[in-house]
Amino acid sequence: MSENINDLMEKIVSLCKRRGFVFSAGEIYGGLSGSYSYGPYGVTLKNKIKKQWWDRFVSSRDEVYGLDGPIILPSRLWEASGHIGGFNDAMVDCKKCRKRWRADHLVVEATGQDLEGDLDALNKALLEIPCPACGAKKWSAARFFNMMFKTEMNGVDDSVYLRPETAGAIFAEFKNIVDVMRPKLPFGVAQIGKAFRNEIIVGNFIFRTREFEQMELEYFIDPEKDWQPIFSELLKEQENFFIDDLGINPEKIRQYEHPKEKLSHYSQKTIDLEYDMPFGGFKELCGLAHRGDFDLKQHSQFSNEKLEYFDVASNRRLTPHVLEPSFGLDRCFLVVLLSAYCEEKISEKETRVVLRLPVNLAPVTIAVFPLLKNKPELVAAARKVYENLRLNFSCEFDDNGNVGKRYRRQDEIGTPFCVTLDFDSLDDDSVTVRDRDTMTQERIKILELEKYFFERLKK
Ligand code: GAP
Repeated sequence: MSENINDLMEKIVSLCKRRGFVFSAGEIYGGLSGSYSYGPYGVTLKNKIKKQWWDRFVSSRDEVYGLDGPIILPSRLWEASGHIGGFNDAMVDCKKCRKRWRADHLVVEATGQDLEGDLDALNKALLEIPCPACGAKKWSAARFFNMMFKTEMNGVDDSVYLRPETAGAIFAEFKNIVDVMRPKLPFGVAQIGKAFRNEIIVGNFIFRTREFEQMELEYFIDPEKDWQPIFSELLKEQENFFIDDLGINPEKIRQYEHPKEKLSHYSQKTIDLEYDMPFGGFKELCGLAHRGDFDLKQHSQFSNEKLEYFDVASNRRLTPHVLEPSFGLDRCFLVVLLSAYCEEKISEKETRVVLRLPVNLAPVTIAVFPLLKNKPELVAAARKVYENLRLNFSCEFDDNGNVGKRYRRQDEIGTPFCVTLDFDSLDDDSVTVRDRDTMTQERIKILELEKYFFERLKK
């Protein structure tokens, strides 16, 4: 890990730009705060995180089904879910420097008190809190601001909204999925996709943005059976995802249980998993909420469609309860980079930056180099090795600069192995394989390369 933890975020942001993981979006037009593009290596890393999540929560479970719903849904759905009426954050303006803040965040940071949702208490607490930007204590009254992004749609009279979470589409298709798949309880429906929230303050790179991706599972259970073992199993799976799939150090993760008095009236329990961030300590990565029958009952009432389940075995008609594990993909991406980033002194003069990404996540698994770029016989032999390996592994052909520079570049994007063809390779049909983490090099026969990598890269 970097020696100076305080500038770790700056180093990650710089690496992301330098190596094509994440760019500030539309910088040629001056950019847009909190808006990012995932570059060539970033999009591959993101897809690999999504694949791990989908494998763990969907493909490997017989009782979980996938869904890909739209970003724009009927607005009545968001009335039913409570987002149009109540998806509000409290904002406050500094009257001196005019900077806008989220009132509850200012109070939590200054006093440790969570007063979210209580405007009177927030206004009172703010009297004692200076503006973090200019130090003044001159605040406007805190007021609620709805976080839904509104837009217009041809053929629809009223405004429509960009979804603030992926869960809505799952509840909207509950009846279709039950009718078509005829699942037994418990069963789940999962979705990965973009969500949009008009956040008052964005920041800490991709941690809080207005457009982000979620990976959500709505898990429907029998309300008359004990939900605690399923809750515990899902929570364990959430932890396993971070530790086993994303390579996160378990000591950096903790559970935070929402206090009973802060829970919504329909919820019996909510636990977040938090990560010890270099900015401000433990912050939310994902949550697991017991949502009772709130969603299905609300959508039944607002749609006039019965969203029930008939349990053949017990001859009962019931409204399932819901357990909801919900992840932010961009936050997963950020903690993968934070966990993987290392600086290592390799000589008196030289320090290398290396991303120790788990092999299942590295955007490039094997980089293949000809020792020299201007020797056609070497380039042709290296291309041949590359074309063979890319059939089974994520590979990159790299002939830019000297080999030392190529190693540094591949270290920075987290490539576990580099394969170099030199003049000896033309005679002995062998290559040099260099390991990212140990920097050791071994000579391997070209014919044995595939087997060599299959053994080292199996998870
Ligand atoms: N359906 C439940 C739900 O949406 P949430 O806690 O509001 O719950 C789930 O969001 C996850 O989405 C969070 O744990 C976080 O990882 C991610 N998330 C929420 N707001 C975000 C934002 N503005 N930027 C990036 N990720 C965000």
